[in-house]
Amino acid sequence: MSPVPNPTIVFTSNPQGVPVPGEHLVYRNDITIDPDHVPLNGGILTKTISLGVDPYLRNRMYYEYKPNTPFLGHGVGVVIRSENANYQVGQHIHTPDYPFAHYAVFGADANLRVLKEEGLPWTTYLGVLGLAGQTAWVGYRAFAHAKKGETIYVSTGAGVVGSVICQVAKAEGLRVISSAGSDSKVEFLKELGVDVAFNYKKQDIATVLKENGGVDIYWDNVGGKALETAMGCMNKWGRVIICGFISEYNLSPSEYHGNQSMLQVLVKNLTISGYVVFDALDKFGDFNFWSEVPTLVKEGKLKVKEQVSNNLEDSMQMLVDSLVGTNDGKGVIALK
Ligand SMILES: NC(=O)c1ccc[n+]([C@@H]2O[C@H](COP(=O)([O-])OP(=O)(O)OC[C@H]3O[C@@H](n4cnc5c(N)ncnc54)[C@H](OP(=O)(O)O)[C@@H]3O)[C@@H](O)[C@H]2O)c1
Repeated sequence: MSPVPNPTIVFTSNPQGVPVPGEHLVYRNDITIDPDHVPLNGGILTKTISLGVDPYLRNRMYYEYKPNTPFLGHGVGVVIRSENANYQVGQHIHTPDYPFAHYAVFGADANLRVLKEEGLPWTTYLGVLGLAGQTAWVGYRAFAHAKKGETIYVSTGAGVVGSVICQVAKAEGLRVISSAGSDSKVEFLKELGVDVAFNYKKQDIATVLKENGGVDIYWDNVGGKALETAMGCMNKWGRVIICGFISEYNLSPSEYHGNQSMLQVLVKNLTISGYVVFDALDKFGDFNFWSEVPTLVKEGKLKVKEQVSNNLEDSMQMLVDSLVGTNDGKGVIALK
């Protein structure tokens, strides 16, 4: 085979504020690859199946990517050539360092996981069976210390992390309050069985939480002012789980809101747990994630909403949409 096009998203520079497609991330369709002859040096060549557009990639822009290199994120590919006995042609692999490109070469020491065929779409491994799903599952088990009948408030409830938390908490007999930034997302929360679903752009968060008797567990995906508001509505002995702070991902630290709520921690005997999923997995294990969650997904007991595009170029706008909330479901690229 002679060289074929290998369209690629290239990272150029770390933006101040929200990334601009075509400026900080550029779609290059002039790059080629020769699948038969590209050197593998003991590694593998994959054809890309799906790529996950996670808002946390914005954070990786601050410290990880080098200018004018392929943009990396969570991806699934099928092995089409292998010089590594651990990976066979036809197997599907997942890695958090997948180049946003149609083909990828991974060296002999790349961080790859061979996926078991579960009879689920490969895009699932980028959402509910991916980083976000594990973040929710492990964080809830490790830090919520939930008791039946308690009230949990989940911000950004329609995202993957939030929607998994809402469903797990509901299944365990908690009363679930959750917010999202559009009416269509609120409808999705209702479909998940959330008891009190509201649009935080239309309704005041503190009013809703107080009207509903306060909060025993606050699952924070947002940070900033929303965190402070929720902390003001906590019940005594409540738990606050700091999972993300998406409202500030596009700000520099000097612009962060700060938090005036430490007095709440004292007078209400609150416990605050922050965590990075990889550290939590190392410390606590995966709480049977792989033996339980795929089955829950297959049985329709854990649902997430995806927004799928077959065009790699769309990944740049999808990232922006997830960072400003104009998405409607977890962004995934599914390539043929
Ligand atoms: N701790 C960890 O190890 C770990 C690992 C993975 C992810 N996370 C974090 O977990 C959170 C959820 O992750 P996810 O992958 O499931 O993403 P996600 O919830 O789909 O995140 C995107 C959503 O965030 C909301 N958002 C965007 N800008 C906002 C703003 N200024 N204020 C309030 N909400 C805003 C929007 O929803 P609305 O329209 O509803 O506002 C948007 O659709 C993120 O903060 C992520 O960084 C943490």
